[in-house]
Amino acid sequence: MSQVLVASNRGPVSFSLSDDGGLTLRRGGGGLVSGLAAVTGAPRDPGPPRPAGTAAEPSAGGADVLWVCASLGEADRTAARRSPDGRLDLAGYETGGAAVRMLDIPAATFDRAYNRVANSTLWFVHHLLYDTPRNPHFDARARRDWQSYEAYNAAFADALARDAARGAKAAIQDYHLSLAPRMLRDRRPDLKIVHFSHTPWAPPEYFRLLPDDIGTQILLGILGADHAGFLTERWASAFLDCCELLPGARVDRVARTVSCSGHTTRVGVHGLGVDGTALRQRAAEQDVVDRARALREQVGDRKLIVRIDRTELSKNIVRGLAAYRELLVNHPEWRGRVVHLAFAYPSRHDLPEYREYTAAVRRMAEQISDEFGTADWDPLILQVNDDYPRSLAAYGLADVLLVNPIRDGMNLVAKEGPVLSRHGCALVLSREAGAAAELCEDALMVNPYDVSQTAEALRQALLMPSARRAERCARLAGAATALPPQRWFADQLAALD
Ligand code: G6P
Repeated sequence: MSQVLVASNRGPVSFSLSDDGGLTLRRGGGGLVSGLAAVTGAPRDPGPPRPAGTAAEPSAGGADVLWVCASLGEADRTAARRSPDGRLDLAGYETGGAAVRMLDIPAATFDRAYNRVANSTLWFVHHLLYDTPRNPHFDARARRDWQSYEAYNAAFADALARDAARGAKAAIQDYHLSLAPRMLRDRRPDLKIVHFSHTPWAPPEYFRLLPDDIGTQILLGILGADHAGFLTERWASAFLDCCELLPGARVDRVARTVSCSGHTTRVGVHGLGVDGTALRQRAAEQDVVDRARALREQVGDRKLIVRIDRTELSKNIVRGLAAYRELLVNHPEWRGRVVHLAFAYPSRHDLPEYREYTAAVRRMAEQISDEFGTADWDPLILQVNDDYPRSLAAYGLADVLLVNPIRDGMNLVAKEGPVLSRHGCALVLSREAGAAAELCEDALMVNPYDVSQTAEALRQALLMPSARRAERCARLAGAATALPPQRWFADQLAALD
């Protein structure tokens, strides 16, 4: 029985299967792992990876924490089946000191809940991604997918209800699990429940694209929690706007509470930044140093504009590349003097929209290289693969960091870049990223749809005198590290007291 439970779709580790049926463990990592370390007392740097099943030191004490996550593929499902009750033997390793239970959710149910509902519907709604004359299209198939989403949420609620100690705290993460808070409250009214949204929240007129009963279930699901957390005021306020349209709900904008059927949910804002110490330590390792040297050799002493994203529709990579192209068209003096590094690591490629978007990114990149490239100058280096040390190396070298999402819950690239920048980078930042609320004073702010404005901001960033750039970058790094994951997570739990 655990005193603190965390639930998220993606867990801190995942597995792959070798030909002989053996399982290899891969690290997950991320902000939640560092956040948990504050609660469990686990070391911040968990050490090098080790093969699955080998023992590690138990965590240094603190609360007894269980992390419940979904099996994301066949290897995860095999690992879950081989472990008693799906509880993995990972004590103290790469999980922030939490024990991990991976749920063995049937592949078809998982696919419909994760790909169809969470990523193709709720993600699109909260990030305003639909091409509305054609989509969304809620038909009988969408109803069937919704039932899978309900079953997926119920599997989490069952696991949490079974493993929670009396009066325990449960921290349920993100849009994959918007029904789980209410389902868990129905099963275990003694628990204290927080739901946290890592995404933006849609404005009511866009949220209403969802079928009425589904929209209502989502709001009521989150309102099953005692506390609903958001990354910025703007997203919290949009959630309250949507709750105002919910029949029977009473919204108090001053106290920031929503009361419904005798239960009150408090709405809070918990910003998330980076753990500066851990990030700098990681960036000092040899693999990052080697990649930095290789990049420098490749680009020479030219200025560097860097972007790092998942190949994700909301990241607005195509317009970012178009802005770079416009810079080269309108200001030929920059030709040969600047290189754009665009590192995009593959994401959600089970969805055709994501595959098509990645192809569009490649097409635009090829066009730019073809139009401007010369024998001794490649204007653009696009790499679509996952190389974390290379990304850290690029942060260190960037003169300009471009972060121009259409909409983003927070965006940690905008925060990691200034922390790792060696000589101070200028940040060109979309006003629609959650990070804008904290970084707007020292970033060059842009409307992500305005390609010409973005091109001009890139030029201003390249022209910024180095002393000014370093000063602004230092302030950006300060703001980026002011709310480390440890504090973010501890705040969520404290909000339940
Ligand atoms: C966003 C979501 C996370 C999600 C991540 C990666 O940041 O808020 O919940 O884990 O994207 O997406 P993926 O679908 O690969 O887990």
